[in-house]
Amino acid sequence: MLQDKTVLLIISGGIAAYKSLELIRLLRKEGANVRPILTNGGAQFITPLSVASLAEHEVYTDLWSLKDETEMGHIRLSREADLVVIAPASADLMAKMAQGIANDLASTCLAANNKPVLIAPAMNQEMWANPANQDNLETLRNRGYMICGPADGEMACGETGTGRMMEATHILADIKSFFAYQKALSGKRVIVTSGPTYEPIDPVRFIGNRSSGKQGFAIAQALMQAGAEVHLISGPVSVKPPKCTTFTSVETAIQMAEAVENALPADIFISVAAVSDWRAETQSSQKIKKDGSQKMQLKLAENPDILRSVATHAQKRPTLVIGFAAETQNAVENAQAKRTKKACDWILANDVTENNFGGDNNHIHFITSDNSISDWGQMGKKDIAQRLVGAIIEFCKKGESKHDTSTAENRIAK
Ligand code: CTP
Repeated sequence: MLQDKTVLLIISGGIAAYKSLELIRLLRKEGANVRPILTNGGAQFITPLSVASLAEHEVYTDLWSLKDETEMGHIRLSREADLVVIAPASADLMAKMAQGIANDLASTCLAANNKPVLIAPAMNQEMWANPANQDNLETLRNRGYMICGPADGEMACGETGTGRMMEATHILADIKSFFAYQKALSGKRVIVTSGPTYEPIDPVRFIGNRSSGKQGFAIAQALMQAGAEVHLISGPVSVKPPKCTTFTSVETAIQMAEAVENALPADIFISVAAVSDWRAETQSSQKIKKDGSQKMQLKLAENPDILRSVATHAQKRPTLVIGFAAETQNAVENAQAKRTKKACDWILANDVTENNFGGDNNHIHFITSDNSISDWGQMGKKDIAQRLVGAIIEFCKKGESKHDTSTAENRIAK
């Protein structure tokens, strides 16, 4: 399964380093080449000899090794790898990665790395929960690093909580699914709209909504990880967008509609944006002043329905058109009606009363073209993104017609 794959395995300091020996054994059993880097901290727990013996390859430890650096070892190691795995990842190494610090072989290699990275953190639960560490984790996640664990349980120090490194079998499963997933959507062009739109009333005021852009960004990132070519079109948000093939920043619904039209054709369109349904019919060039009447009337004009325009596009309708439905009541029924009205293939109904609109979780009911419903329950937005991309991969694999999409998701749900 992992034949011809080269994994650069960085083992940093932590008692969990002993589990990495098992990981090397499992990787070798699967046919992967393992290139190990052992940090000074890691070498306090396991020996270079055991790592090298199991990896059947020399172990790299020193940035200033004359032999390795004559061949630019810290660059070459990353270039020769298909995937970088850090197990265990200590709080120290995660902080260095987040800050771009390069002061030993592992951190220098990571600073110069251009390959996907999977991190299996391991540390005391207070260290894990420390806001500085959580900020670093978020930074790394937003840069597209994959995170495996940590697990809950008893720590080596006797305390209990979250911080145990995942078992080697679990890390191996993530490595395998990374390789299976990596190219699943290569060659597919996907347009994703995300975030709110702001509709100006005057130079200081606008009509907007509470969308954070997090769900759209998570979907764009998961699509990139699956090898798709992603054009992300986003309204104004404070969250940093993930690295995509193309990124277009817009403010209003009309700008978003134009950007989508210009981005077509595509194989898949995913409309995650919370597009403002209305805009001020006229925009005042000056700040509107109170006139003493204690009343203000604003005339609104309806914005274009971007999802519907794409789903009914005469020449350039993508094969798969997916919408979201933000509902505050009868979420499933309303979303089913919305799917038909907008002529999209799949719709993800989101009951926004259950979670803060703009928060980190959603409760999704996934509705396919035959109106069948799958309740995904409460999930983090990144997990929703992974699951949706999983369903898209299944759809593409089967080459199912857009009118027979339910079976792919039903398989995923099982
Ligand atoms: N949408 C769109 N253009 C609009 C309005 C919505 O592309 N002008 C898309 C959204 O991106 C989402 C879907 O349509 O995928 C449903 O959006 P939602 O806000 O739930 O519904 P509305 O169409 O606005 O309908 P209503 O406000 O009546 O619920």
